[in-house]
Amino acid sequence: MMADEGGRWGTRMSRALPPPDSPASRFQVEDYDGRPALGADGIIHSVAVRAGEPAVGYWPHMLPESTPHSALLLGVGGATLAHLLTRRHPGIEIVGVEKDPEVIAFAREHFDLDLPNFTLVLEDAFEYVERCDRRYGYVAVDLFVGHVFQRAVLRKAFLRRLGAVAAPDGEIAINMFREQRSEQHLARIQRILPVRRVDRLRCNIIAHCTTGEGVSGGSGRLRPRDAKQP
Ligand SMILES: C[S@@+](CC[C@H](N)C(=O)[O-])C[C@H]1O[C@@H](n2cnc3c(N)ncnc32)[C@H](O)[C@@H]1O
Repeated sequence: MMADEGGRWGTRMSRALPPPDSPASRFQVEDYDGRPALGADGIIHSVAVRAGEPAVGYWPHMLPESTPHSALLLGVGGATLAHLLTRRHPGIEIVGVEKDPEVIAFAREHFDLDLPNFTLVLEDAFEYVERCDRRYGYVAVDLFVGHVFQRAVLRKAFLRRLGAVAAPDGEIAINMFREQRSEQHLARIQRILPVRRVDRLRCNIIAHCTTGEGVSGGSGRLRPRDAKQP
């Protein structure tokens, strides 16, 4: 979440005040470069994707390199990734897992969750992955509560389950904050899942992993990619 190719994301936003007669909402529609963006806790979670407009922020950096037929998105928010995926791969079957009914209600009202290829599962992502018995061509992990990265993402058991839920030649993208411990986080991921590419953005670091099972599993060596960095 909250990355910016131009340096503007990742800065805490001033919180827009709710109208005086409305109940205080945890969420606000913010403006980002003329695009409606979903803000909470002073942070941008999602940005609207509109036809003809280029993608901004960290979300396009999470997209898969291949052409998957199915995708599992862990952490839906305002569904930026679902829209970008649909735009790039029309018809792709997307399952989005989100545990917060309030963000979904807000996103339904102010953002578009009505994609015909999108199914929402209102559930804790860790529980969903634990019980999941199917495989997806692409899995995106984007789990933050407010501005707090869900460190359970780095648990070995969860990372192993991600490898089982992704198709043998599938891709797994994990979004984290870029911080002091980022290299440790990457090394932790790398111990379980081969990391094929790392996108280091100003505020985010995105690990692109494989299951290690498929032909594109790669050597398991880290291939840092700073080319996209602003
Ligand atoms: C940065 S937002 C996701 C943005 C989204 N990927 C997009 O493309 O717009 C992070 C989301 O993760 C959700 N989340 C955090 N922990 C979760 C969990 N354990 N299970 C499901 N969703 C969770 C939050 O409620 C929040 O909506």
